[in-house]
Amino acid sequence: MALGVLTLLAVLLSKSIKKHAAVYYIVFAIPLALVAIPFIARLFGIEMFSFGRIPFLGGIIRDYIHAGTLGFPLLIIIMYIGALTPKNPIVIKLLGIRKELSILSGFPILAHSLIRVTNNFPGALNFFIDSEARGRAANALGAGISNFSFILGVLMLALFIPLWITSFDSVHRRMGGVKWKKLQRWAYVLYAMLFIHAMCIQVGSMLNPRGGGRGEARPAVEVTATTAETAHNHNNRANPESHGRAERGGRGNGKMAQPTAGAGNKAGEARPAGRGGHPQSLGFADITVGPQTKRYIHMGSLLLIFGSYLYLRVRKARVRKQ
Ligand code: HEM
Repeated sequence: MALGVLTLLAVLLSKSIKKHAAVYYIVFAIPLALVAIPFIARLFGIEMFSFGRIPFLGGIIRDYIHAGTLGFPLLIIIMYIGALTPKNPIVIKLLGIRKELSILSGFPILAHSLIRVTNNFPGALNFFIDSEARGRAANALGAGISNFSFILGVLMLALFIPLWITSFDSVHRRMGGVKWKKLQRWAYVLYAMLFIHAMCIQVGSMLNPRGGGRGEARPAVEVTATTAETAHNHNNRANPESHGRAERGGRGNGKMAQPTAGAGNKAGEARPAGRGGHPQSLGFADITVGPQTKRYIHMGSLLLIFGSYLYLRVRKARVRKQ
C-alpha cells in the first residue's frame, strides 16, 4: 500500500518536488533530526523527551525507523525508474525527479540505520563472536540468519552513504560525470543487498519466531541480537526504538504475541448482526492473518518486487545492446 500511495504522490507532486526540492528535503529531514537529537543527547548522558510519543509525528518517526513504509518504498520506486524505459508519461515524470527521490529516501534510511546500528548491531556481532550467546538462541540457524542481516545492514549503510551524498548536485558537479556514473553502478549491489537484508529478516524470524532462549528470560542485548521477530515486531511500536527495549519483557522472554484475529473475527466469517438486524458488511480491515502467514505474504511480495525488477532491468539492458 505504501508503495502504491508513494508512487501516486510522487507522480502527482513531481512538478512541485522538482521546483521546491529544498523544501521537501527540509520536511523530510525533520523526523530524522527528531530521531538524531535524543540519540545524540543520550550519548552525552542527557535523557530527553522522546518525540516518538507525539501523536502523528510519532507515527512518522516510527515509520522512519522501521524503513518499511517510507524508506523502502522510495528505494523501490528509484530502482524501478532505472529499470523501466521512459515511454509512458508516468515513468517520464518519475525519471525527472529520480535524483530528488533518491535524496528524500536517505532521510528515513539514515534514521532506520542510526537506531538499528545502535540497537541491533552490537548484539549481532556478539552472536557471532560469543558461542554462549549462540547457544542461548531458541533456534541458532534462525538467529544466525537475522544477525547476518543486521551485519549486512551495516555494509549497506557504508555503501548507501556515498551514493546518497553524491546525489546532491553540488557534490555531483565537483566529482565529474564519469566518476559519478562509476560510483552509481554500486547502486545495483545495494539493491541486491537490500533484497537479502529484507529476506533474511523474514526467514530468520520464521525459523526463530520466539527469539528467546530455551524458555528462560534473556538479557536485553541478546534478545535484540537473536530475535528477528523482535527486530521485526511491527506490532510493538509504542516506542519507536523498541527493538530491544519494549520487547524485553515481551517476546524476548519467549512469549509470542498473539495474532490479532480472534476466533470469530476471521475473514469470511460473518459478524454479528448490526443495528436493525442487518449483518454488518466485511471490509479489508476485517481480514486478519497470523504472523506466519504475514511473513509468507511479505516474502512473496519481496520475491515479486525484486524478481520483476531484475527481469525488467535485464530486458532494458538487452534492448540497449541491440
Ligand atoms: C542503507 C542501510 C539500510 C537499508 C537500506 C535498510 C533497509 C531496510 C528495510 C527496507 C527494511 C524493511 C524490510 C521489510 O520490511 O521487508 C529493514 C528492516 C530492518 N533492518 Fe535495515 N536497512 C539498512 C540498515 C540497517 C542496519 C545498519 C541494521 C542493523 C544493524 C538494520 C536492521 C534492520 C532490522 C532490525 C530490520 C527489521 C525491523 C525494522 O523494520 O526496523 N538495517 N531494513
